[in-house]
Amino acid sequence: MSFKKISLGLLAIVSCAVAVSLPQKRAACSNGRIASHASCCVWFDVLDDLQENLFDGAQCGEEAHESLRLTFHDAIGFSPQLFKQGKFGGGGADGSIMAHSEIETNFHANNGVDEIVEEQRPFAIKHGVSFGDFIQFAGAVGVSNCLGGPRLQFLAGRANFSLPSPDLLVPEPSDSVDAILARMGDAGFSPAEIVDLLASHSVAAQDHVDPTIPGTPFDSTPSSFDANFFVETLLTGKLFPGNGSNVGEELSPLPGEFRLTSDFELARDPRTACEWQSFVNNQALMVAKFEAVMAKMAVLGHDPRTLVDCSEVIPIPPAAKAQVASLPAGQSLSDIPAACAATPFPTLSADPGPATSIGPVPPS
Ligand code: HEM
Repeated sequence: MSFKKISLGLLAIVSCAVAVSLPQKRAACSNGRIASHASCCVWFDVLDDLQENLFDGAQCGEEAHESLRLTFHDAIGFSPQLFKQGKFGGGGADGSIMAHSEIETNFHANNGVDEIVEEQRPFAIKHGVSFGDFIQFAGAVGVSNCLGGPRLQFLAGRANFSLPSPDLLVPEPSDSVDAILARMGDAGFSPAEIVDLLASHSVAAQDHVDPTIPGTPFDSTPSSFDANFFVETLLTGKLFPGNGSNVGEELSPLPGEFRLTSDFELARDPRTACEWQSFVNNQALMVAKFEAVMAKMAVLGHDPRTLVDCSEVIPIPPAAKAQVASLPAGQSLSDIPAACAATPFPTLSADPGPATSIGPVPPS
């Protein structure tokens, strides 16, 4: 047999082996979509259902915001410190907030999450997926609907078993910076990573800190995953948008905007201020760091090597309008006292027009 024939024969065997090995993993899913692992197919069906029936046609509205918040309130129920003391420290991103909602939604820091838990639960049951997987998936899909949003990693395969998380593991807006750094540090996050996680407050509003003004957002663009949140939290506070100072509330710079004490303090604390400032002129950096830290948060309490990567199911978000945040109309750089000693505050331009005032986020 000639050398050419032998190599052609080998090539045929190799191609055959490739052809045989590929279909074992790759799978054809509904509506002509392909998944790299058959177990990911179900998530395309969940995606369609969520976008139509929870997120009102792929909107970055209230349900998307609440779903993103829920990823945190489930996952942060995890304390290695408690385990070290011989106590149960929680299972992390295990769906316990949904499985044991009668316990966990009564924790003070979880005020208001009962609504989204009840809205989400029927979807998880209908599609036969675990609560822990579902919560992280819904948050990732919801935030992918926001302009300039991240495309979060999504790993599937968390067991549908959990025990109730202990209380007092979710930070409160009235907690001191020391307390927040300690609690988040226990769960494995550095001070900079806490700031990275708080990019989530760029697509966020409050309902319960001041219940007289539900839907009052934390920045002027709550449907855009942009850096405006990081600028606006640094502006000098002038007013309360609602009925006056509440526990966990600070003076806000703009009518119709709400400022949490925790955001106010983390923006100015020497341990976190420079990371905070680093995002005001770099939306891409903010997104990249949020994606990295969310990948870490979503697997708290799990060994990621036991999960299957179904990230391909997460939609590609619409592009950001701008890479650099702008100052709200009527504000100037003199309204931003320096907080990061190491780097001067970058030059930003102000939006044109009359002074910015923000209306409540319309219910979706
Ligand atoms: C220091 C840590 C944090 C504190 C103290 C905090 C506190 C709060 C508070 C008080 C609210 C308003 C809730 C309401 O009145 O309805 C809120 C909203 C929100 N939080 Fe956080 N948060 C923290 C970290 C996070 C993280 C890590 C995420 C996600 C990764 C997150 C996502 C959200 C979202 C998306 C909303 C808006 C929910 C909506 O519009 O319905 N937060 N947060």
